[in-house]
Amino acid sequence: MWLVAVSIPLLPAVLVASTVYGAKVAALCRRLLSWLQRLTRGKVCVRSTHAYVFTNCTHGKVVSVLETFDLYNRTHPHLCVSPQAAAALDEAVRRTRPSLVLELGTHCGYSSVRMLHLLPPGGKLITVEQDPVTADLGEEIILVSNFKHDQFQVLTSSSAEAMPKLRSLIGVNGKRSWAEGPGEGFSLVLMDHDAQQYLPDLLALEREELLNVSGCSILLISRKRGAEDIAGVLGHVRTRAESYCVMSDLQCVVEIFYQKKTRGVSR
Ligand SMILES: C[S@@+](CC[C@H](N)C(=O)[O-])C[C@H]1O[C@@H](n2cnc3c(N)ncnc32)[C@H](O)[C@@H]1O
Repeated sequence: MWLVAVSIPLLPAVLVASTVYGAKVAALCRRLLSWLQRLTRGKVCVRSTHAYVFTNCTHGKVVSVLETFDLYNRTHPHLCVSPQAAAALDEAVRRTRPSLVLELGTHCGYSSVRMLHLLPPGGKLITVEQDPVTADLGEEIILVSNFKHDQFQVLTSSSAEAMPKLRSLIGVNGKRSWAEGPGEGFSLVLMDHDAQQYLPDLLALEREELLNVSGCSILLISRKRGAEDIAGVLGHVRTRAESYCVMSDLQCVVEIFYQKKTRGVSR
């Protein structure tokens, strides 16, 4: 009763406030709700995708793992690359035969497994995932597909924080490392993490000299919200025409090619 008595004098103030700020408060609530929905959808999606694939595939058989993913993806909402992007990815791996691949955005390991399956002998993959739970689940699926830790590494980190660590990990400049390679940098990069990070991460890869100077294909997965960010990358590519070209520009994936400009050597 006392609550009603106290509230009545406040009523005009509440009415005025809701008229003036109502739209802003409602917009704020909507944004908060959609942020929460996205947050929980991502978690549910990674857990349910992992559980389905882990339970239904034949362990140790990479083809079975990929088929089980495809089966799941046909009937459930998921974050794996689309069939069209997967086909473009397969084609790029077959064409470039990369010895060292970088993936940004592991999720459940679908694209990691696809690429590992097609790598030439000795080829290695580093895949970066910022969410620790997701990174563990993705790694488990890669192991279930029968790939070993001398073929791949899951780095639990945001892409931005991973960049300075990658140099020592892959042994650029001839230092022996996990990759034990000749220290040539990545010859294939798949970006499927956060489109807003595509350009900053590409610039960091250049700055840290992590791209193979004799050629690196960079695939940018394009999802609904990322068009502006991809346009930003393409803008950068146009300003650096001596080092970059656009190989293909499909709706779901854009492929650019990087080659360091060296005097007297033309592409
Ligand atoms: C669309 S999913 C990747 C799907 C994966 N390529 C596949 O086909 O299975 C995006 C993933 O990137 C991760 N991610 C988002 N932003 C990131 C960042 N800045 N650094 C590292 N990982 C990020 C998310 O946690 C999510 O697992």
